[in-house]
Amino acid sequence: MKLGIIMNGVTGRMGTNQHLVRSILAIRAQGGVPVGDGKVIWPEPVLVGRSEHKVRALAEAHGLKRWTTDLDACLSSPDHQIYFDAQVTPERAPALRAAIQAGKHVYCEKPIAEDLSTALDLARLACKAQVKNGVVQDKLFLPGLLKLRRLRDGGFFGRILAVRGEFGYWVFEGDWQSSQRPSWNYKKEEGGGIILDMFCHWRYVLDHVVAPVTAVSALGVTHIPERIDEGGRRYPCTAEDAAFGTFQLEGGIVAQMNSSWVVRVHRDDLLTLQVDGTEGSAVAGLRDCWVQHRATTPRPTWNPDVPREFDYRAGWQEVPDNEVFENAFKVQWELFLKHVACNAPFPWTLLEGAKGVQLAELGLRSWRERRWLDVPEVR
Ligand SMILES: NC(=O)c1ccc[n+]([C@@H]2O[C@H](COP(=O)([O-])OP(=O)(O)OC[C@H]3O[C@@H](n4cnc5c(N)ncnc54)[C@H](O)[C@@H]3O)[C@@H](O)[C@H]2O)c1
Repeated sequence: MKLGIIMNGVTGRMGTNQHLVRSILAIRAQGGVPVGDGKVIWPEPVLVGRSEHKVRALAEAHGLKRWTTDLDACLSSPDHQIYFDAQVTPERAPALRAAIQAGKHVYCEKPIAEDLSTALDLARLACKAQVKNGVVQDKLFLPGLLKLRRLRDGGFFGRILAVRGEFGYWVFEGDWQSSQRPSWNYKKEEGGGIILDMFCHWRYVLDHVVAPVTAVSALGVTHIPERIDEGGRRYPCTAEDAAFGTFQLEGGIVAQMNSSWVVRVHRDDLLTLQVDGTEGSAVAGLRDCWVQHRATTPRPTWNPDVPREFDYRAGWQEVPDNEVFENAFKVQWELFLKHVACNAPFPWTLLEGAKGVQLAELGLRSWRERRWLDVPEVR
């Protein structure tokens, strides 16, 4: 079963590394996606980009023959069943709309749009056109977070009380060392800002790994006012580079998520999530997860005048893998391909993507208005 996939924005960081190389090419290298009875789904990508030189070079580097700069021609060709988008955020909504109108199934990076009303419009359009649709929610497929979910589903935590999330790392300003992130991330007018970038993730992570989000309070900050772009030019940062969010979840759970591109890492991973419950606690990184049960919880006493009485980290136990974990993006790609080819379930729809945009929009508003905001149900 061959599925033609238009891959737009594939010359970018996410497009090339996660979606082309580690997902679609990895699926081809393993012989396709098996669907039973000896049958496989075979993804046939066509690479699309604005720059002929870049897109051709990428195709050649990976031995792919099909590439183009003509998106419209791709959309009108019956050879392609799926449109995939990993372009810069502001380009996504118009491209998705055109793809849906051309009758393609659509799959895309987050955020699906820059504002909730556009995001919901896309979700409704896809529903009306009866095309399959999906959004990347990669963190749900990370081993560390899968282990957290396993613990929650097994009742390990008892009643969950609170969640502490730390995300971030130092992104170089671009003067004496080049930046690891594209400059548009720091420009509001180009779809940048860490709230739009990260609150989309926090929405599905909290909703599905802990409990549904009901309210938000957020504060954004632009710590570094000027950076140097890819061409060596100095530019003013018009979007926030750090966000401090507090969320209320169903069941009275409180979650605090720090997101920053201006923090030096002194923790076990670039994202760590601590969940505290009445029966036990867990700390997850991207791959690993450690737990402490109430029965093995030490009894610290506050006394700064004596040396530390416990090695606190040593009192945690590692959660075993118990299964083989694959690249998170590839896992979700395989599920989407099965959804398109075999009608297999795929709950990570554009409507779910719109919920992420909703939380980002509410986070930005909460910061502006300096107040808590409820998260209304969207449908
Ligand atoms: N799921 C995740 O964990 C994750 C992580 C990072 C980024 N993303 C998302 O992926 C998308 C791409 O991010 P990235 O970091 O790969 O960006 P990038 O700048 O590296 O790549 C952007 C791509 O869009 C193309 N593009 C199309 N129109 C453009 C325009 N007008 N200006 C500039 N580039 C244009 C570029 O050619 C390139 O292929 C963003 O929407 C971002 O939110 C997701």
